Amino acid sequence: MDGITDFYVRQILTGVGGYDLSMTEFLRVTNSVFPRRVFYKNCPEINPDIYQNNELFSCTQSGTPVHMQLLGSDPEFMAANAAKAVELGVSGVDINFGCPAKTVNGHGGGAVLLQDPKILYQLISSVREALPKNTPLSAKMRLGYENSELLLENAKAIEEAGADFITIHARTKFDGYRPPAKWHEVTDLFSILKIPIILNGEIWDVNDYYKCREISSCEDIMLGRGAFASPDLAKQIKASKNNQTLQIMRWSDVSVLLKSFYKYMSEQHLISEKYIAGRLKLWIKWLMASYDEAADLFELIKKEKSALKIVQMIT
Ligand SMILES: Cc1cc2nc3c(=O)[nH]c(=O)nc-3n(C[C@H](O)[C@H](O)[C@H](O)COP(=O)(O)O)c2cc1C
Repeated sequence: MDGITDFYVRQILTGVGGYDLSMTEFLRVTNSVFPRRVFYKNCPEINPDIYQNNELFSCTQSGTPVHMQLLGSDPEFMAANAAKAVELGVSGVDINFGCPAKTVNGHGGGAVLLQDPKILYQLISSVREALPKNTPLSAKMRLGYENSELLLENAKAIEEAGADFITIHARTKFDGYRPPAKWHEVTDLFSILKIPIILNGEIWDVNDYYKCREISSCEDIMLGRGAFASPDLAKQIKASKNNQTLQIMRWSDVSVLLKSFYKYMSEQHLISEKYIAGRLKLWIKWLMASYDEAADLFELIKKEKSALKIVQMIT
């Protein structure tokens, strides 16, 4: 998630457990091939200066693989950047057809491409050709742009072009992030597509997972904001699939995560206090969906601009 799931957040959440895969924030490709430092910034998990343990290359410290997400519309430059990412050590590439942001869509990237399955085909096949055969290539899409009329055609284009799996955020670009997620719209795809489909949208607790599975028949899901609202949600879901019930993470343990997030961010010299304060506030706001303590805390910190003061108020 752009501006959210950076290196350290990936480390924290996968460290809690339950994740099979993690994605970088999108790297926006226009008409150039990025220098190595840009790939390292987006995905420090491939930087040999940071990661000395070869076995964990392109994984978080807890061993969860990290794939790099690219966003753009030029098949040639998308392919060249994907190839370079893999050369540098990325273990998989994901292409973003889901971003609804005006700035991104205005430059022909993200969800705007869902209006033309031919472009999706061209983009995915061009990236596929540039990657080694065994490197996983995936796409993240929405149900459609204005409506979901092209859902099947878009998904088939992505499959036929050589993607290994698709993640579908069950809303259109016009839906933005408004609930509900329309899980039912994806159901038919399971009997048509041969590649795995991962469903995404509005999964905030274990019950949502089972509701989504019942409605869509989809076994595998991607967590977005729910991963922040309940940092142990992936672990809870995995345990429940094995007929186990885990105790939900206590607020005191969530506090430890928030404090370690602050510590890491404040050690990065180029990151401002104001920026860290904003990141902490957003995370605490999402935590309100699961923890009353977060609601109380948010009331105290919502006008606070100093990240240090915010973190001192976390109990
Ligand atoms: C702030 C923010 C940034 C996001 N950035 C990305 C991104 O870079 N790539 C992507 O595929 N999806 C991105 N998304 C979409 C999420 O991955 C997810 O599809 C969406 O939030 C719906 O899932 P949820 O209801 O579980 O949050 C972003 C969402 C938010 C709220």
